[in-house]
Amino acid sequence: MPAEKDPCLSGRGVTKVFGFGRTRTVAVDHVDFDFHEGEVISIVGESGSGKTTLAKVLLGLINPTEGEVYFQGKERDIGSYRKKKEYWKQIQAIFQDPYCSYNIFRKIDTVLLDCIHMRGGRGLPRAKKVELMAEACSFVNLKFDELTNKYPFELSGGQMQRLMIARIFLLKPKILLADEPTSMIDACSRATILDMLMQLRDEIGMTVVFITHDIGLAYYVSDVVYIMENGRFVESGSADNVILHPKETYTQRLINDVPKIYEEWDLSTV
Ligand SMILES: Nc1ncnc2c1ncn2[C@@H]1O[C@H](COP(=O)(O)OP(=O)(O)O)[C@@H](O)[C@H]1O
Ligand SMILES: [Mg+2]
Repeated sequence: MPAEKDPCLSGRGVTKVFGFGRTRTVAVDHVDFDFHEGEVISIVGESGSGKTTLAKVLLGLINPTEGEVYFQGKERDIGSYRKKKEYWKQIQAIFQDPYCSYNIFRKIDTVLLDCIHMRGGRGLPRAKKVELMAEACSFVNLKFDELTNKYPFELSGGQMQRLMIARIFLLKPKILLADEPTSMIDACSRATILDMLMQLRDEIGMTVVFITHDIGLAYYVSDVVYIMENGRFVESGSADNVILHPKETYTQRLINDVPKIYEEWDLSTV
C-alpha cells in the first residue's frame, strides 16, 4: 500500500445538510479522509448512511454545506463550469443505476465519442475514433459494431454497466468513484464487472473509491476501508485491520450481515 505518497483526495470536516427545520437531515457529518494514489478504498455503510451524498460531494455534483475537499494537495476549486470540466477529466464515477447516468436519447456511439472529445481527441480522424471506441468496447467484451446505433435503454443492466466501464477506459481518470456499481446486476456479471474494474485499475493506475453496503465486497477489493454510520466515519484503516479486528459494534453488525465473508467474492470459483 503506497501510504507514503501524498493523498490525491482529502476531506476535512466535510458535511452536507439537506432541508431545514423538521425536515433537516445531516446526510454527511464532518468526515475526514485521505485517499492515496493507487489505493482501492471502500466506504461501507448501511443504506441511508450518507454514502451517495458523499460521492456526489466528491464528484462536485453538490456543494458541501461545510468543510473542505482537497484535490492533489490543494483546496479544490470548481467554482466555474470550465474548472468543473477540468476536474471531471480527473475524477469520474459509476453509479448504481446505469440508466440514470445517461441521456437516454443519445446513442451509444455518441456517449463514447463524448469521452474521446473530453480527452482532447475532437480533431482525430473518424477512423481513429472508431478504433478507440472499438478498443474500449472490446476491453469490456462488448461488440462496438452491434452497439453503434443503439440507445442505452436497449441494453441489459450488465451491458450498461460494462459500457460505463468502457467510458472509464476512454476517459482514464485519476480517481474513480464506484457507487454500488454491481448491486443492480446478477451475481455472475457482478464478478465480471469487478474483475474488469480491477484490471482497468491496474492498467491506468487509478485510485478507486468503492462505495458499498457489502463489507464482504469491501474486504475482497480494498486496501483501505472507511465505515460510515449516520453520516460519520466511525472506523477506518487497512481492510485487514478493520474487517478482521473490528472495534465498533456497528462494524461487527455489518460483518454479521454477510454470511460468508471470505467466500462470497472468491472469483476463482466463478
Ligand atoms: N436530495 C436530498 N434531499 C433530502 N435528503 C436527502 C437527499 N439525498 C439524500 N438525502 C438523505 O440523506 C441521507 C443519506 O442518503 P444517501 O447519501 O443516499 O445514503 P446511502 O447512499 O448511504 O444510502 C438519507 O437520510 C437520505 O434520505
Ligand atoms: Mg447510495
